[in-house]
Amino acid sequence: MDALAMIRKARLGEQATADELKKWVQACTAGEVPDYQMAAWLMAVYFQGLTKKETTDLTLAMEHSGKTFAGRNLGYSLVDKHSTGGVADTTTLIVAPLAAACGAHLAKMSGRGLGFTGGTLDKLESIPGFQVQLTEADFIRQVDAIGLAVIGQSAELAPADGIFYALRDVTETVESMPLIASSVMSKKLAAGADGIVLDVKCGTAAFMHNRKQAKALAQLMVDIGEAAGRKMTAFVTDMNVPLGSAIGNSLEVDEAVEVLSGGGNQRLVTLSLHLTAALLLTAGVVGTLAEGLTKARQAIADGAGLQKFTEWIAAQGGETAWIGQEPLTKKVNTLTVNAPQAGYLAAIDALALAGVALSLGACRRAKGDRINSQVGIRLCAEPGAYVEKNTPLACLYGAKNTDLDQYATRVEQAFTLQQEKIELPLIYEVLSHDVTVEQGE
Ligand code: URA
Ligand code: CA
Repeated sequence: MDALAMIRKARLGEQATADELKKWVQACTAGEVPDYQMAAWLMAVYFQGLTKKETTDLTLAMEHSGKTFAGRNLGYSLVDKHSTGGVADTTTLIVAPLAAACGAHLAKMSGRGLGFTGGTLDKLESIPGFQVQLTEADFIRQVDAIGLAVIGQSAELAPADGIFYALRDVTETVESMPLIASSVMSKKLAAGADGIVLDVKCGTAAFMHNRKQAKALAQLMVDIGEAAGRKMTAFVTDMNVPLGSAIGNSLEVDEAVEVLSGGGNQRLVTLSLHLTAALLLTAGVVGTLAEGLTKARQAIADGAGLQKFTEWIAAQGGETAWIGQEPLTKKVNTLTVNAPQAGYLAAIDALALAGVALSLGACRRAKGDRINSQVGIRLCAEPGAYVEKNTPLACLYGAKNTDLDQYATRVEQAFTLQQEKIELPLIYEVLSHDVTVEQGE
């Protein structure tokens, strides 16, 4: 493996072969390439991009840089869902039990949150007793028994991504389409799902700020997954406004329970139903997306989804007595922010609210930071709704000694009120089985 030749090729935008990329990834994983050469290569890729073939070859090389759970013969199709990261995105906690209640088998390895996006593991750990570390055997046993398990990502999974991501984080090379696609897909492929449903976020609080870029990233990941023999569906969805009403770990668990009980924020409900339907289609449980939607709605209406949620939490050691009885989040120190005037909610700045949630202690600034699972923000009005003057926009949940007044203005300014009613977009498109369906949501 010639590191200089690899860097030169990337810098000149010349194509590397599958074999060259494989040897490069192997050498990087084995610790044979110094950080400065890997960083130079990442920056060259950032500027020159990679072809689709190179991105696929890179992804497959990264997938095989460690242990891979692909190719297990379980007698059923395993499915997985992944979001590129957003604000108030509680979908996994809703979609996983809902899909399992409808007959799918979902085995998910999740990460922790970093920066303003929440991590599913952190949310689950806000439930007393919940265990995110299971042995591989227990993980599969649980999926067999109840149809779902969500655990922490194994360090043995796609270790090349861990090495590249740490360098990307400190060299401003995260926001590169081939690097994001190979990072996400190498981990998803190694985790072994036969079918994968992706939710690619698009907007000011997402990696991809415009629809064209987000769609291109979604298509690239779909193509890589299909090249690897997996069934793929990708949604491109809005991330300008928070998806649901809760930002913060236990608050998001509470909102998931609300949705599974038939209530909740309508945008969160709609996207959760669509993601569940896509998982059911991918798993072969239903034949069409419409059939999947009906089945998912039914599982909320008859309580099967909430029952599966409870079964799942219990299976991983979590307390369940509170479910359906009282919120997980305790009101220790709260502050309600009211609308300064009446109007339609034309915009809710997800990025600004996520910044406040970060200040409250809901998320990590740096890897390894401690978080407070009980703090965050609960929105009191949905995007597009009409609010009267002096009625609640949001409620802040802080730690006992936090002075919440200091955040009131920032929160108020995150809401844009106007006199004309508007519709805010949610699902921009769905890419599935080589067919592009434009959604008019
Ligand atoms: N999530 C990942 O896992 N990798 C990226 O590069 C970006 C988001
Ligand atoms: Ca999230």
